[in-house]
Amino acid sequence: MLNIALPKGRLGDKVYTLFKSLGYDCEAMEKDDRRLVLTDENSNISYLLVKPSDVAIYVEHGAADVGVVGKDVLLEGENDVYELLDLDFGKCRMAEAAPVGFHEDIQRPLCVATKYPNIAKKFYAGLSREIEVIKLNGSIELAPLLQLSDVIVDIVETGTTLKQNDLEVTREIVPVSARFIANKASMKFKDQQIKELTQKLAEEIQRRRTQK
Ligand code: PRP
Repeated sequence: MLNIALPKGRLGDKVYTLFKSLGYDCEAMEKDDRRLVLTDENSNISYLLVKPSDVAIYVEHGAADVGVVGKDVLLEGENDVYELLDLDFGKCRMAEAAPVGFHEDIQRPLCVATKYPNIAKKFYAGLSREIEVIKLNGSIELAPLLQLSDVIVDIVETGTTLKQNDLEVTREIVPVSARFIANKASMKFKDQQIKELTQKLAEEIQRRRTQK
């Protein structure tokens, strides 16, 4: 049985569509129930539905053999896993954003609110910019509006959240997309099954690219 960790939520919906187009029976996933393990006996696959930020943890520890996760989560967690494929969806960017018209005072540390403290620390270290990090778990855009921070480091997809909160991108950090990852030991012991799935995914991604 191949255990696949899939992200619940926004990215998850796109992953279900992808697996469906490969002919895997994901019908149970589309139903609104609370089961977290869904087994497809025909394909010998078990789907584990986890929080997007936890996918790489399940895969790193071998609780799942493979998984689909955003590059943002991988960069933040620095998990010891193999990154097998860029799935070419879930595209967004990691960026610094500030209130419109914000002027940075370079005489003092920049106060940064983020869900991604490691990414932020590395990025500003690369600019030799001293920062103070405030780790939040969501609704990051609120922080500079309440003067909790000067800026935020967060993902931007459509830009709507920034716009509706009078914020704008001030520095680009890194492009993000969904990645197919594998546990290192599983790559040895379930080599055949993983290679087969990777091949199918790669072909489907290629087919979609040529259709664009
Ligand atoms: C993410 C991110 C931004 C928003 C960006 O939040 O943290 O807030 O999406 O998307 P947009 O550019 O299309 O507006 P999410 O919806 O995951 O919720 P969160 O605030 O709880 O992190």
